[in-house]
Amino acid sequence: MNTLSRLRLGINIDHVATVRNARGGDTPDPARAAKLAQAAGADGITAHLREDRRHITDSDIEAILDVIDIPLNFEMAATDEMQQIALRHKPHAVCIVPEKREERTTEGGLEVAREANRIAHFIAPLKDAGCRVSIFIAAERRQIEAAAQIGAPVVELHAGAYCDALAEGRVEDRDREFAKLKDMATLALDLGWEVQAGHGITFDSVKPIAALPEVMELNIGHFLIGEAIFSGLDSSIRRMRALMDEARQEASGVSVA
Ligand code: PXP
Repeated sequence: MNTLSRLRLGINIDHVATVRNARGGDTPDPARAAKLAQAAGADGITAHLREDRRHITDSDIEAILDVIDIPLNFEMAATDEMQQIALRHKPHAVCIVPEKREERTTEGGLEVAREANRIAHFIAPLKDAGCRVSIFIAAERRQIEAAAQIGAPVVELHAGAYCDALAEGRVEDRDREFAKLKDMATLALDLGWEVQAGHGITFDSVKPIAALPEVMELNIGHFLIGEAIFSGLDSSIRRMRALMDEARQEASGVSVA
């Protein structure tokens, strides 16, 4: 029998800021959401400071750091400006993501296969500053293999293709994307990384991903913030946590360590 370790849950609070910014005032407050997420059992808070500041702002990052005791996973593009901000705050973790102004969300993973050298240089000072650096990549063999040249200790696999196929009832795509996630999680772990997953995860898609023994952390945002409209943030996070624990238990046949 195989006891799976407890899966960490990172809560992404970006879209609390999206709602606030729709009116330009102070509410709802992302720092309040971060504190509430911590009380509901989140193991970490994720916030993406985008170049265009369309949701999280610089002062949100400061406010979040002031109110939470759990780690902040600071999501950012590989730009000089973001590097300076990260070096000023020295968050527990930094997740490097691709960013395009015209996209609605982080649509794909980093093109590590093409940019390995630049990203390796870019993350070096962040690692020196003590940040745990992860890179967000598609579950593709060529990206995982290229990631070996970068020297980041963590990879976060983009779960969006699987989650979207499941939500849209595209069964063949769903199965193919899930097989890719599973195989690439195994490969990444074999290559020595901590493996995380995120993007597009819902109550319906969380369990198969949470059951993958290689995965140590899930980062979930949009669905939970949306669900909070109906059941509250506390309740939606607790439900996600319970589904993750159930999946781990069912996969190992024993209680979660
Ligand atoms: N992980 C990363 C690297 C992301 O960019 C995002 C979206 O900002 C998430 C996780 C969370 O995705 P979602 O909001 O779809 O749950």
